[in-house]
Amino acid sequence: MAAQINALIFDLDGVITDTAELHYQAWKQMSDEEGYPFTRDDNEALRGVSRRESLNRLLKGRVITEEKALDLMERKNRYYVDLLETITPANILPGALALLDEAEAAGLKLAVGSASRNAHTVLTKLGIIDRFDAVGDGYCVVHTKPAPDLFLWTAGRLGTYPQNTIVFEDAEAGIEAAQRGGFFTVGIAGHDQSVQGRVTNADVVLPDLAQAHLADILEKLKKARA
Ligand code: BG6
Ligand code: MG
Repeated sequence: MAAQINALIFDLDGVITDTAELHYQAWKQMSDEEGYPFTRDDNEALRGVSRRESLNRLLKGRVITEEKALDLMERKNRYYVDLLETITPANILPGALALLDEAEAAGLKLAVGSASRNAHTVLTKLGIIDRFDAVGDGYCVVHTKPAPDLFLWTAGRLGTYPQNTIVFEDAEAGIEAAQRGGFFTVGIAGHDQSVQGRVTNADVVLPDLAQAHLADILEKLKKARA
């Protein structure tokens, strides 16, 4: 790896905090009200994709009017925003703050690249919004992950290039987006064996950010791209 890394872009849900469970509960409440079947397994397929695409996947081919779709998304988001009230800095996943500290000390630029339109709220509730030089969210681009647009937009805000930037992602759609954009990728696989396959394409795969030191990550990337 000849390139100099000068920026890190973090996905939010599943990397910095675990809101996947809250998304699940909100979709589940709406689905139960509508009589749609929806399981935790189904929820895995919604990781990293937009609210609209999540609804499409949840509907599994069921045809509804646009008015109904808007109502379902609005309701789900209301439940989700209510659940976000419970979030505090204690919900930052282990290792995330330490990695931000290390990267900042090393002079790297830091950003969030999240498909969520609630990313600012979540980062504010976590108390870390000021740690980032840029926040790309679900409002910034039309084509969300797996299109590369959001990460490219975010890199542009940082004034950096994909070949100098590492994206941290827990979703298949997010790894694909970063790779299509030409970024280095670190996949956050989690500890649940049944879903670890979703980031296997990443340059480097870690279970989580606990003990994820910048120097180790750079070394592993170097080996992966040697
Ligand atoms: C992503 C989540 O970060 O944001 C997805 O992984 C979610 O599960 C997407 O659907 C959109 O979130 P929101 O908050 O805009 O509905
Ligand atoms: Mg994610």
